Amino acid sequence: MASANVTLVRSIVEAWERGEFGSVEWADPEIDFVIADGPAAASWKGIAEMAGGWRDFLGSWEGFRVVPEAYRELDGGRVLLLLGNTGRGKTSGLDLGEIRTKSANLFEIRDGKVTRLVAYWDRDRALDELGVAGESDSASAATSRGTAPADSEIGEVLVEADALEARVRELGDQISRDYEGRDLLLVGILKGAVFFLSDLMRALTVPCEVDFMALASYGSSTDSSGVVRILKDLDAPIEGRDVVIVEDIVDSGLTLSYLLRTLEARQPASLEVCALLTKPERRKVELPIRYVGFEIENRFVIGYGLDHAQRFRNLPYVAVLNEG
Ligand code: IMP
Ligand code: MG
Repeated sequence: MASANVTLVRSIVEAWERGEFGSVEWADPEIDFVIADGPAAASWKGIAEMAGGWRDFLGSWEGFRVVPEAYRELDGGRVLLLLGNTGRGKTSGLDLGEIRTKSANLFEIRDGKVTRLVAYWDRDRALDELGVAGESDSASAATSRGTAPADSEIGEVLVEADALEARVRELGDQISRDYEGRDLLLVGILKGAVFFLSDLMRALTVPCEVDFMALASYGSSTDSSGVVRILKDLDAPIEGRDVVIVEDIVDSGLTLSYLLRTLEARQPASLEVCALLTKPERRKVELPIRYVGFEIENRFVIGYGLDHAQRFRNLPYVAVLNEG
């Protein structure tokens, strides 16, 4: 169970995530608000000053966003929020470009009100200063999203939920442009691609249909057996249709290479692949992948459909699996 203080901080952050930086009912009237480092370092006292400071601060950004990763309960009524800040920074006429930080905010809470809030751009510095260990940051990220119990198997977050959302939208736009006036059929590969596919399909503006296949290439281990079996075939023929295979991840490429051969033999008008993730380093067979969400390093990942022994598909982000 989250403590009252963590629950309070979470509700503040949820308001921030909605862009409501003006809500202050959580603040003690005498609140100290400190931006500890970075080009906009500042310190404000009391709600009115804080609100003014916020206004100025937000005015220097385009699309400032708060992306929470983990909530850490410290002693003395303190909660440390590990977060990312994204947006386009413009400090005193200087365009800092797209920014994506690993930041931390410290909330000091008394009687259900925040008495002091220290915002650190530099998370490592915050962890140092506070004497908090930095490991397993994202082990609690899942808890912070309320999607899974804190689990030591959930490692570093590689792709945040908002990055997934943005990229899926881009892919949707691209596919919509490419398939204008054609006969698009998405073939989702069960089970991992279901999450990606349902978001992608909603980002398409062209008519499309969906069908599914289930293949087995992995047991519960994290390495490919190279053996692919069809567990469930398509419901309908694909002859003459414009088919896009939607995959969660291309690893060795063995699954996909088998699938491409199988579907090619059914004479679709065209056949392309859209994969949310690929691990180029692991590729054993070269494959044409027309649409790629993200290239990732060679690590076993979970979340947003990807499982380890059938678990973790429900995480709203993609994280590394901690093995051990
Ligand atoms: P491939 O045949 O080696 O390319 O493996 C493809 C399938 O293996 C994917 O569709 C996934 O189901 C699974 N897979 C490969 N890498 C990962 C991973 O990092 N996490 C979860 N599943 C993976
Ligand atoms: Mg799998």
